[in-house]
Amino acid sequence: MKNKVTAIVNQKGGIGKTTTALNLGYALSEEGKKVLLIDFDPQASLTASVGINADNKTNIYTLMANSIEEKETGENYIVNIKNNLDIIPSTLDLAGIEMTLVNVMSRETILKSIIDEIKKDYDYVLIDCSPSLGTLTINALAACDSVIIPVTPEYLSAKGLGLLVKNINLIKKRINPNIVIDGILITMLNKRTNLSKEMVKAINESTRYIKNQYDLDIKVFENKIPISVKAGEAMLYKQSVIQYDPKNQVAGAYKEFAREWVI
Ligand SMILES: Nc1ncnc2c1ncn2[C@@H]1O[C@H](COP(=O)(O)OP(=O)(O)OP(=O)(O)O)[C@@H](O)[C@H]1O
Ligand SMILES: [Mg+2]
Repeated sequence: MKNKVTAIVNQKGGIGKTTTALNLGYALSEEGKKVLLIDFDPQASLTASVGINADNKTNIYTLMANSIEEKETGENYIVNIKNNLDIIPSTLDLAGIEMTLVNVMSRETILKSIIDEIKKDYDYVLIDCSPSLGTLTINALAACDSVIIPVTPEYLSAKGLGLLVKNINLIKKRINPNIVIDGILITMLNKRTNLSKEMVKAINESTRYIKNQYDLDIKVFENKIPISVKAGEAMLYKQSVIQYDPKNQVAGAYKEFAREWVI
């Protein structure tokens, strides 16, 4: 078991974090890796996108609350999706935990303490973050070994990326010295404007900005995820794109990305 914990992070909403968590996890599980998905967003989109209603289940909120109160959770909080692929679901209640955490000691490392107990059973633990840089995302950054940053070409702004990297660096300095940024994953790329001059320029500007500001060489993954209506459809049918339409280019791109990322 590899026991690698990776957070899928971007404070910008709707840029493909959840789609990436599910399809990367699915692709890795098909390759025989044991994968745990953690839905760490109160919107619970990842939970919904695998067809689970977490309200009547032990979910990540219960786990966090029990950990804070030092209560035992028992065994059955991991839900199996398919062979090699499990999930800890989320629920809207998780939104309330940020307030609770304000008065809790070591509040940044509650998720870490939960993950440290269970990661031994997995090759990969993927944390799907909410679109914010609040306490929840700080918990995810404190708990992980590495970070994947999905971003659409439109939102590949040096400023937005800079703010994220600044936060990751703070966590690195204060809480989690080993955190690594694996790279930027371009999502929802329109094939027709594929690597247009503007996009290459935006990528170069962003990476140069990060280099200048933070002395950090940030990698942009070779594999880019194309835009396709099938991605939204798959979500509606509560499946990964790989399962819903295996021949679709988004499915292929996520499989290729999984191979690139694992190396
Ligand atoms: N490659 C793609 N092509 C077309 N649509 C996509 C693609 N990837 C994701 N989408 C759609 O874009 C929307 C946002 O994607 P997703 O939920 O993965 O983003 P997110 O970053 O997790 O959002 P949030 O910040 O709200 O959690 C969804 O409706 C999803 O189905
Ligand atoms: Mg999401």
